[in-house]
Amino acid sequence: MNCSEKVQVVLGGTSGMGLATAIALGKQGPVLVGGRNEKRLADAVAALKEAGVEGYGKQCDISDRASLDAFVEYATSIAPIGNVVNAAGVDTGASELIWKINVQGTINVVEAFLPYIGGSCLVNYSSITGYYYQPSQEELALWANPTAPDFFEKSFEATTKKEIDPRMAFMGPQFLTYIASKRFVQYYTAANALRFGKKNSQIFSVAPGSFDTPMLRESSDEVVAGIARGTAFGRLGRPEEMADFIIKLLEPGHEYLTGVDLILDGGKHAMGTVKQYE
Ligand SMILES: NC(=O)c1ccc[n+]([C@@H]2O[C@H](COP(=O)([O-])OP(=O)(O)OC[C@H]3O[C@@H](n4cnc5c(N)ncnc54)[C@H](OP(=O)(O)O)[C@@H]3O)[C@@H](O)[C@H]2O)c1
Repeated sequence: MNCSEKVQVVLGGTSGMGLATAIALGKQGPVLVGGRNEKRLADAVAALKEAGVEGYGKQCDISDRASLDAFVEYATSIAPIGNVVNAAGVDTGASELIWKINVQGTINVVEAFLPYIGGSCLVNYSSITGYYYQPSQEELALWANPTAPDFFEKSFEATTKKEIDPRMAFMGPQFLTYIASKRFVQYYTAANALRFGKKNSQIFSVAPGSFDTPMLRESSDEVVAGIARGTAFGRLGRPEEMADFIIKLLEPGHEYLTGVDLILDGGKHAMGTVKQYE
């Protein structure tokens, strides 16, 4: 795809990995970033311009379909839409808000952008934590029909009524909602492969391990140090490393890549699931 004639879009492009992804995409042509907070948005556009990018910003809440539709309309006024990256997500706050943004928001992004996708790619951000969540048969049956009118209420209830595995209870109900929401993103991305394929387009998700962003820095220094020790390199990922990973996957030659979740985690998943050789 010739990205100089299209606008590439990053939802949640005002902070952390989303901003790094926007700066990297901006080397190819115009980029539009979206987020809720106006100050963060203005700072992100300034950072894009400072990096020499033709950067645009528009306020957007992905959990609100009307807000997202206005965002899409603005994007089309810049240029035809190219690749779309959805890095917007939250891991704190009320469980319902987490579900609304990470689950309903991801559905909204796909539904709002799909009509404009053609010969391009939509990338969702999931999380390595999604692999630690096992959806029930009831959840899977609901996830199979995400455009049902009562999907949000029923899927949220099905997840949050479940008994918390005692081994995970210390992480609290919000964290379990978060990891369930990220499992959903993986599932939903996979379930959209055919819809995108019919438009000669791709969809995949990236699953970050632990990256040094404002989201991760909400934890104490002690917790962050412990997280870093849980990787093969003893350090957090840098947002630019995730951005570079995505850019390389979007390069020509990878058009057969779709419907999958790709882990970038410095060995965190391997270390957590397989006994390491000394
Ligand atoms: N950092 C990690 O180690 C890690 C690990 C696994 C997965 N992830 C996932 O990777 C993605 C990026 O994370 P990050 O660490 O870079 O986070 P971050 O620095 O907190 O950035 C999150 C971005 O999402 C935006 N956002 C949140 N809710 C939104 C909404 N409703 N509508 C539009 N934008 C919204 C935020 O802007 P506003 O708040 O202004 O809206 C911000 O731009 C997230 O989906 C996260 O769950 C991160």
